[in-house]
Amino acid sequence: MALSPLRSIALKIDQTPMIFKTVGNLVEFLSKIRSQGKAVSFVPTMGNLHQGHLDLVDKAAELSNIVIVSIFVNPMQFGPHEDFDAYPRTLESDCKSLANRPCVAVFAPTVREIYPEGVNTEIDVPSLTTILCGHHRPGHFKGVATVVAKLLNIIKPDVAVFGNKDYQQLQVIRTMVADLLIPVTIVGADTTREPSGLAMSSRNMYLSAEEKETASMLYSTLTTISDELQNGTQISATLKYEKERLASAGFLLDYLEIRDAEDLSKSYVEADFAVILVAAKLGRARLIDNLVVNLNR
Ligand code: PAF
Repeated sequence: MALSPLRSIALKIDQTPMIFKTVGNLVEFLSKIRSQGKAVSFVPTMGNLHQGHLDLVDKAAELSNIVIVSIFVNPMQFGPHEDFDAYPRTLESDCKSLANRPCVAVFAPTVREIYPEGVNTEIDVPSLTTILCGHHRPGHFKGVATVVAKLLNIIKPDVAVFGNKDYQQLQVIRTMVADLLIPVTIVGADTTREPSGLAMSSRNMYLSAEEKETASMLYSTLTTISDELQNGTQISATLKYEKERLASAGFLLDYLEIRDAEDLSKSYVEADFAVILVAAKLGRARLIDNLVVNLNR
């Protein structure tokens, strides 16, 4: 008896999920899913999946009947001296870690599939892409926005789930989707942390055991500043102290800043929510983290 696509995926418990490598095959599969009136959610990733990604997938599964997880290391978002070549490609183990999750399919295209004619069109959100990480990684968010727009065009999901950990990325995507009238609901999901508080990230694998311990200081910095913001304490001395504390522990700080949580402008004082953002290099890893603070105390 022929199984419907959804049923056959649901039965793939303990096996690897369905994998689509071409746009054509994925689009054909999704049109069958949609003809059954099913809702589709989307979790974009660059693979090397960890618990943080799996939590995004579980969140997406709560919101739809089928989750498409893309695994694509996007060359356009890496700078010339960044870790594009070194970035781990672990499709087989990624699929294994998705295996016990029914109703998940993987889209793992080649670079040629996503950029068949190279890059002739770029998407930019200039108010957000030249500040903070955009300042330190010129072109990065153009690459992210462009590939996410392509993936949304291909998959046309009802919902797309992104981690709050990449806070600036999430705001870029939200703005792009609103401005380009892309019919998708963007959901931000909580950051998954190690017991030490360190935010889970594929780049944590570049850290030695000792550096990993040091890296958890980023979260304690965020919580200290958050507490002081909520207490209404003068914050500039704390910021200075925390920057020095991180530097003496071996971090090379790109920034530690408080911004308006919505538009990331510097004038957060009147905002309802502020976000504390940090980016720093430790050994071979560039780490980012953030904490949103309710200022309506
Ligand atoms: O957050 C990521 O892993 C990437 O920036 C994304 C959203 C998958 C785009 O390549």
